Amino acid sequence: MTDFKNSVFQGRSVLAEKDFTAAELEYLIDFGLHLKALKKAGIPHHYLEGKNVALLFEKTSTRTRSAFTTAAIDLGAHPEFLGANDIQLGKKESVEDTAKVLGSMFDGIEFRGFSQKVVEQLAEFGGVPVWNGLTDEWHPTQMLADFMTVKENFGHLKGLTLTFMGDGRNNVANSLLVTGAILGVNIHIVAPKELHPTKEIQDLANGFAAKSGAQLFITDDLDEGMKGSNIVYTDVWVSMGESNWEERVKLLQPYQVNMAALKKTGTPDDQLIFMHCLPAFHDTDTEYGKEIQEKYGITEMEVTDEVFRSSYARQFEEAENRMHSIKAMMAATLGNLFIPRV
Ligand code: CP
Ligand code: NVA
Repeated sequence: MTDFKNSVFQGRSVLAEKDFTAAELEYLIDFGLHLKALKKAGIPHHYLEGKNVALLFEKTSTRTRSAFTTAAIDLGAHPEFLGANDIQLGKKESVEDTAKVLGSMFDGIEFRGFSQKVVEQLAEFGGVPVWNGLTDEWHPTQMLADFMTVKENFGHLKGLTLTFMGDGRNNVANSLLVTGAILGVNIHIVAPKELHPTKEIQDLANGFAAKSGAQLFITDDLDEGMKGSNIVYTDVWVSMGESNWEERVKLLQPYQVNMAALKKTGTPDDQLIFMHCLPAFHDTDTEYGKEIQEKYGITEMEVTDEVFRSSYARQFEEAENRMHSIKAMMAATLGNLFIPRV
């Protein structure tokens, strides 16, 4: 008889990449590619028929919220959005009590917010799978989409070199460093010394890299850091919850992804792509963009409009893949699928 509990993913939470093996992450990536093919072919995949999932958002979101919502509906589940001002979480009710209540009504819980501890507590007390939709520390569902996009473009992962340039201490940089290290993708972090990943994150990544063979390189030298990259990746200079624009603009202007930076890779055009988790400041068509132009006289931040609109750019495929990969993750952890080993 099928023992669902012995399925590799059934009932598991996805809180941080470090909790998964390379084979498990690759399984979820490949499952995402499969579900994308089903979606494009119009083939239904209602693995979560009758389930209810709660979507908790302390921070704002376009992609993650949309991806969880549409993925849940495609899987036959009902998604319920619970925004920062809608529920008592943390203000009038402890995380533990909230988790117990939500876990008694919902079959799965997504959480986007500040503290990693909160998402961990939701998982500890909720009794249902909890999915981290971004915290100050990690962005694991972004990683599933990102490495799915890389695999779509290159056909494989191991041995490729992904260079993240920008705020090397943020959640996306942390996640790329650790996930690449697990998967055997070489990761370069190019950032001013002040914004290099913490020792704790570097130690964690080095441990995984020793097993996978990934080469990790953290530097403030653009020439050295860019060399040999297949994927050049960047993210906003100031993340949600931060407001230190002046300091970041000053520190990170030399680390903007522009055509000159891409040239430094020395990589042939057909072996080089640009990625960005989005949202991006590549012009002045946003309130922040306009404010930064007025204050600091720059019209582009982490990436130039030229690169953003170039043939290297894959950020919109990457954004779409959030939906397919989140679908894979929810189905695998909640759908009683027969996945006895990976
Ligand atoms: N990349 C990403 O997480 O986008 P949102 O903040 O719009 O969800
Ligand atoms: N580092 C960014 C990622 C947004 C998807 C932030 O936390 O705001």
